[in-house]
Amino acid sequence: MRKWIVAAAVAAVFAVPCVASAQAPIVIKFSHVVANDTPKGKGALKFKELAEKYTNGKVKVEVYPNSTLYKDKEELEALQLGSVQMLAPSTAKFAPLGVKEFEALDLPWLFKDDEAYAKAMKGPVGQWLFKKLEAKGIIGLAYWDNGFHMASASRPLLNPSDFQGLKIRISGSKIADQYFRNVGSIPQIMAFSEVYQALQTGVVDGCENTPSNYLTQKFHEVQKHITVSYHAHLQYAVIVNSKFWGGLPADVRAQLTKAMDEATDYTNSIAKKENEDALEVIKKSGKTTLHYLTPEQKAAWQKAMQPTYKWAKGRVGQEVLDLVAKELNVQM
Ligand code: LMR
Repeated sequence: MRKWIVAAAVAAVFAVPCVASAQAPIVIKFSHVVANDTPKGKGALKFKELAEKYTNGKVKVEVYPNSTLYKDKEELEALQLGSVQMLAPSTAKFAPLGVKEFEALDLPWLFKDDEAYAKAMKGPVGQWLFKKLEAKGIIGLAYWDNGFHMASASRPLLNPSDFQGLKIRISGSKIADQYFRNVGSIPQIMAFSEVYQALQTGVVDGCENTPSNYLTQKFHEVQKHITVSYHAHLQYAVIVNSKFWGGLPADVRAQLTKAMDEATDYTNSIAKKENEDALEVIKKSGKTTLHYLTPEQKAAWQKAMQPTYKWAKGRVGQEVLDLVAKELNVQM
């Protein structure tokens, strides 16, 4: 009897962790900095829905929007340390990882429209950039679109000279730093979660972002003037910790890949309309004045920011510029 009790106790001790590990879902913490009601926010939730469905609950995705878990810089460190498993930062924020080449995508008026952007990222440029991440312990799974940047400030921005002396918040890219310097402003890198307050209190005078981000962060309520300039593009790379991804059972990884592919198609299919709708809401809010550049004004911005292209060679290197130029069929 005693023997039997000991045997049962030993079995119980060993059985519990076994049962628990067979049932405990694999948790993916997906951290990002924007609102749920944006292309990226919706994309992350779509991935969660599909990942949990395709893996039959073997995977649980916890989405943390709006910098609730980490701010811009911290989340990249957290990914490398394995504290989170998945992120979708703007590619303008990758230099601290040691991959400045992504900043080539921030060149002003590089993509003539959404289609040109989508095509470029599906081609060799997108894959070449992802390869750069591998040495950093990171795997790139997908590119998500969020359309084009507008520029805003406490005064109308119509001519390049209007930027003179303005402190402009940028998200991280030295290419953006450069084109704002080209027009005489003083760019300042700042975490996304701090922008509203910085605009409100005058720590910075202006910023750039897409309509969906202006609306959901209420930037339009603290910027008197927004120019619908669409001067540069905002894109994200969905990235995972390589060790985590490589350690997944093969069937689970395949199901997650399918979920990510579908979430990517979904996100990229809604990005344009989401931003158009957000712009309409901003327009109707009456809280800011929207400005549209005349062809002459646009040409003047382009000319003033053109030196960034030459400068970019020293920053991102010729190889990525050649790849982008070839893909877009443009001269740089
Ligand atoms: C920003 O920091 O302005 C953007 O990158 C935020 C985002 O993720 O869209």
